[in-house]
Amino acid sequence: MAEPLVCVDDFERFAFQVLPRNALDYYRSGADNQSTLKDNVAAFKRWKLAPRVLRDVSSLDLSTTILGHKISFPVCVAATAMQRMAHPDGEVATAQAAQAMGTAFTLSTIATSSLEEIAQGAPRVLRFFQLYIYKDRDITRQLVRRAEKAGFSALCLTVDTPFFGKRLADNRNKFKLPPHLKLANFEGLDFKSSGMSSAKEGSGLNEYAASLFDPSLTWKDIDFLKSITNLPIVLKGILTAEDARLAVDAGVAGIIVSNHGARQLDTVPATIDVLPEIVAAVKDRCEVYLDGGVRLGTDVFKALALGAKAVFIGRPALYALTYNGAKGVESLLQILQQEFASAMALSGCASVLDIQPCMLRHQTTFPA
Ligand code: FNR
Repeated sequence: MAEPLVCVDDFERFAFQVLPRNALDYYRSGADNQSTLKDNVAAFKRWKLAPRVLRDVSSLDLSTTILGHKISFPVCVAATAMQRMAHPDGEVATAQAAQAMGTAFTLSTIATSSLEEIAQGAPRVLRFFQLYIYKDRDITRQLVRRAEKAGFSALCLTVDTPFFGKRLADNRNKFKLPPHLKLANFEGLDFKSSGMSSAKEGSGLNEYAASLFDPSLTWKDIDFLKSITNLPIVLKGILTAEDARLAVDAGVAGIIVSNHGARQLDTVPATIDVLPEIVAAVKDRCEVYLDGGVRLGTDVFKALALGAKAVFIGRPALYALTYNGAKGVESLLQILQQEFASAMALSGCASVLDIQPCMLRHQTTFPA
């Protein structure tokens, strides 16, 4: 009998063995030399825990809120595109797992399941819609309208993607969506935006983005978005205190400190390393979340200690989906929940409010 999967890395190892090359390379890659890809994970290890003792951790409360919604623990699912390459149930299964675990799910604009399929397949999940703004603003208007109708609670506007980063393996593979799959949010709307059939050279996704996404976006476009919806807006892809302040000035409800899973600009810092400057700049004027490299319950704890309200996971969910659809993603989330509970208890925290910056030391503060 196969050994049970007991940690996030086990799901990754499994997926690496079974996913077809085109999909695996698309899921695992970072941009260029992938130095930020490694650093997103490694940086967590440079932050050391400073646990407190004798603080009654007999009963733990892992729950928190995001944008006023209660979640059972502070790990949510990030938007990752094209999940039906991992499993036939795709994003619907991932949403069902998030629903079962009482946490939030984010649907990508370029998903292989539609907004409506999520609403139908996981009607009780707290769901956010990740938005790319297309040159054709009517497409954006329609997507936003559909997100509202389908019960999505927020829009996560991705701001780090005027163009896609250069992912070498995708270029070598001439990555494209397998022909039996479609970008489901565009099906029936317009052929150009629902398929990705035109990769002549390099990655089909880069061609898709370059022809359809709007690279002229500025801070003014936040006003455009606010003018067409009352949904809270979260900016995904903030990496500096300067932009965090502009985001607050623009009136957003939240910021996701994210480098897009190291898939955009290589050699930017690991997200956990820039979280403190962003939290300090925001001064509680909006919620701050983090994604990138979260693989352990202690990573979640560290992000919260540095001021994040919650974290999002990207690749781990794809690998768990590959392993066993909705059940796989649920098991993965359970493992992260248990690890986070253990990190809290062993650090002397009975509730997430007890997690404090003084419970972390950066390794540079220790003598070499
Ligand atoms: C992504 N990410 C992403 N982000 C986004 O805003 N829209 C999208 O469609 C996608 N698609 C996507 C596909 C794949 C395969 C990956 C790995 C990532 C980025 C994602 O939301 C998140 O920022 C990172 O995945 C977080 O890093 P980890 O958890 O993968 O290390």
